[in-house]
Amino acid sequence: MADGNTLWHGRFDGDPSQALRELNDSLPFDQRMFREDIAGSRAHVEMLSEVGLLEQDELSEILAALDVVENEMLEGKFEWAPTDEDIHTAVERRATEITAAAAKIHTGRSRNDQVANDVRLVALGEIDSLIEILGSLVEVILSQAEDAHRAGLYLPGYTHLQRAQPVGLAHHLGAYCWMFLRDIDRLVETRRRTDVSVLGAGALAGTTLPINPASVADKLGFSEVFNNSLDAVSDRDFVADLLYCLSVSGVHLSRLGEEVCLWASSEFNFVELDDAFATGSSMMPQKKNPDVAELARGKAGRLIGNLTGFLATQKGLPLTYNKDLQEDKEPLFDSCDTVRLTVVALTGMIESLKFNADSMSSSADSEHVAATDLADFLVKKGVPFREAHSVVAGLVRESLDGGEQLSELVGSHPDLGPEATELLQPGVGWSQRNSHGGGGVAAVAEQLAALRERVDALS
Ligand code: ARG
Repeated sequence: MADGNTLWHGRFDGDPSQALRELNDSLPFDQRMFREDIAGSRAHVEMLSEVGLLEQDELSEILAALDVVENEMLEGKFEWAPTDEDIHTAVERRATEITAAAAKIHTGRSRNDQVANDVRLVALGEIDSLIEILGSLVEVILSQAEDAHRAGLYLPGYTHLQRAQPVGLAHHLGAYCWMFLRDIDRLVETRRRTDVSVLGAGALAGTTLPINPASVADKLGFSEVFNNSLDAVSDRDFVADLLYCLSVSGVHLSRLGEEVCLWASSEFNFVELDDAFATGSSMMPQKKNPDVAELARGKAGRLIGNLTGFLATQKGLPLTYNKDLQEDKEPLFDSCDTVRLTVVALTGMIESLKFNADSMSSSADSEHVAATDLADFLVKKGVPFREAHSVVAGLVRESLDGGEQLSELVGSHPDLGPEATELLQPGVGWSQRNSHGGGGVAAVAEQLAALRERVDALS
């Protein structure tokens, strides 16, 4: 018999090769799940005692041993053994050193249901913390939007990155609030599908022992229990769901990051970054770089990569557990950590951002961006929109060709005149676009109230 002292060496003559260990062992990354693994073991052994598979004194000894293991791990004093293949092996090995009763921990359980349960518990914790930090980000963006609204700040709205129509800054910021609120909704929905206990599925087909998975689920705080043991050990949809949620958040963060990069450039000059959230150049003394915003833009790549990579890992896997599934953890942990780091830094950056009202308004005040409002002015007088568009386009063209001010041409036009030139005054047009969900002052006030209600309900 091999002396490798793994959980499974009894059937082997030889020891595992070093190369196999390096490829196969998941301890380097799954030790992060030690709390969840120990919580699962506690619930499992309590259930074993309820159904008569453990004596009361054995239960007490195992629970005490699990407390010791957990404390050693929390305090960084745990001595990992060369044979610890993964976190499950390490916990069981150490508990058994402390009490011989721990040799019964794995009764009616497999690492296949154990690991799936651990990952679900980790994912639930991550989801809760991600919801919280995304909530803080929305709060900070919304506060900036409310300030901007009170101060009447406006900037050009863009399509094709060309100035299109001026909008309130609050409206622009509000758009990001809605994006991140949808991210929170997606996480809540993913949480529901993750919140299913799978401990008790065994290796794949359940067990002949009289275990009670519902009791384990209850002790661990899960809302549901698995229905099919084969599905329970092989389902990682919840991991893919979470990676998708985080990819979409990554895309949103990257869009906001890019806006801030543009706004902080000398060309736009719409914002000033706080020193605490900007970096300098080692060579060019004048530089103030938006690294936080750039990284928010850049991190989306790895988040999307983690999602597509893990979907590819699962493609074509036959039922049930296959070692390929061990590949779930690194992308999951990486995506959670990446979004957390990014959101926290971006929140600080947005909170300390100073908006440059003059640059924004002077970019928004060019007469030509009011062209649509002039067409609407004619529409209100009964002119068909297509005709109105053509009249105003003709005037814009005339002013571009002849160098005359659009306001002069508008003022002397028989259907437009002095009343219409009012629309070309700085700061007028944007505030009046008050159709439902629009960028005008009244519509944005309603929107901000709705956002405030949503954000306050988060906490
Ligand atoms: N480290 C493994 C994983 O992450 C644990 C499950 C091992 N199961 C097995 N049958 N070898 O998936």
